[in-house]
Amino acid sequence: MTKKFYQLSLTERHQYLQDHTALTASDLQTFTSQKGLSPERADAMVENAVGVFSLPIGIAQNFVVNGKAVLVPMVLEEPSVIAGASFMARLAQKSGGFTASMSSQQMIGQLQLLDLKDPEATAKIINENKDSLLKIVNDNAPRLVQRGGGARDIETRLVQSSPIGPFLVIHLILDVRDAMGANAINTALEQLAEPVAKLTGGRVHLKILSNLADKRLATAEATFALETLAFDSYSGETVRDGILEAWAFAVADPYRAATHNKGIMNGIDAVVLATGNDWRAIEAGAHAYAARDGGYTSLSQWRKDENGNLHGKLTLPMAVGIVGGATRVHPTAQANLKLMGVRTAEELGEIIVSVGLAQNLAAMRALATEGIQRGHMSLHARQIALAAGANASQAQNVADQMVRENAINAQRAQEILKEMKEDRHD
Ligand code: MEV
Repeated sequence: MTKKFYQLSLTERHQYLQDHTALTASDLQTFTSQKGLSPERADAMVENAVGVFSLPIGIAQNFVVNGKAVLVPMVLEEPSVIAGASFMARLAQKSGGFTASMSSQQMIGQLQLLDLKDPEATAKIINENKDSLLKIVNDNAPRLVQRGGGARDIETRLVQSSPIGPFLVIHLILDVRDAMGANAINTALEQLAEPVAKLTGGRVHLKILSNLADKRLATAEATFALETLAFDSYSGETVRDGILEAWAFAVADPYRAATHNKGIMNGIDAVVLATGNDWRAIEAGAHAYAARDGGYTSLSQWRKDENGNLHGKLTLPMAVGIVGGATRVHPTAQANLKLMGVRTAEELGEIIVSVGLAQNLAAMRALATEGIQRGHMSLHARQIALAAGANASQAQNVADQMVRENAINAQRAQEILKEMKEDRHD
C-alpha cells in the first residue's frame, strides 16, 4: 500500500513534491536553510537586520479549487491546522471541491481633504473632474495600464462627525492586477494630492490605501455531503446541526465571532505568509469587513441546503499579489507560488479563501463534537516532547505515550525520555 503524505519522511515528501509538481530539487532547497532567505537578502528587506526567523512549512492536501487540484503550502507554528484543512478539503472533494472567485483586483486609496468651507460643494467639484483626475493617475502608470490595470473610479465620502468636525474623503479606485498594490496606490494618491488641492482649495492631509479592500473580495463556497460528516458515533445530521448551532453562536456574539474568525485566519494567514504577502493587511481587512454593518460578526455563512447537506460560504477582502514586494524577493515564497502553479493574484486569492473556509469547518466540526483538545493535544504533545529534549525520531513515541496516559506535560515528557534512555542501556 502506498504511504499517505503525512506518513512519509521529510526527504520522501520532498521527493513527492519533485515528482508531482513543477518544483525542482533546487526549489525544494528553499524549504530548508540552504537556499531559503539569506541574511544578506534579509538585510536588504528591513532595517537593522541581524538574521532570519524560521517557521514550519507544511502542505495542505486534497484541495480542489474551481476544478483544479492544488497542493497548498502553509506556514505557521500551530499544530492541527494543516491536518484540519486537508481533512475538510477531502470531504469537500466528494462534492466537487471549492468554487471560488474574486470580485476584482481593485484597491481603494484614501485622500483626507481638510479646511473646506463647503465639503458638499467640494464633493461635487471632484465628481465633475473625475475624468481628468483618473487621467493623471493612468498617465503616470503606463505599465499598469498596459497590463490591463489602472484607475477605475473616484468616489467621495463625507465624514459628518469626527473629533475635528466634518471633512471630505476621496477614494481612488485602482485596479492593481497581480500586485498587492500598496505601492501602486500610495504613489497614485501622492500624484493626485496637488491637483486635488488646486481644484478644491482644500488641504490634502493623509494619502494612504485602505486595508478594508471591499472591492477586492474573495469568496469560496463548498458543499459537504451529509454522509461525509458522520464519524465515530456521530451521525451526519448531528454533526451538521451541531455545526450550524456553532455558527449561530459566532453570528450573534462578538466574543465568539473573534475566535471563530481567528480559526478562519489560521488557514488564510498561513498561505498569505507562505507566499510572502502582507498578512497584517489581510488581518486588518478581514476584521474590518467582519464589522462592516456596525457589529462584529462571523465572516462565514453556513446553511443546510435543499438536500440536507452542509453548505459553507466565506467572503473577505483579499489584497494579495504574486509580483513585487517580499513575494519577489523571498526565494521560498517564489517556490510556494510555483508549487501552487498560480498565474494570477486572482487564482492565489481563490485558493486562500478556500483554505479559510475549510479551516473554519475543521474547527467547528471538532468544537461541535469531540471538542478541540483531542486532536490538538496529540499534535501539541509532539511539541512538548521536542521542547523537553526529544530528538525528531523520539518525539512521536514520547507524544503517543503522553496521549495514551492523558498526561501531556513537560515533566512527563522528561520522565518518558529518561525511561527510554534507561531502556536503551539495559
Ligand atoms: C484555534 O487556533 C482556532 C479555534 O479556536 C477556532 C474556533 O474556535 O473556531 C479552534
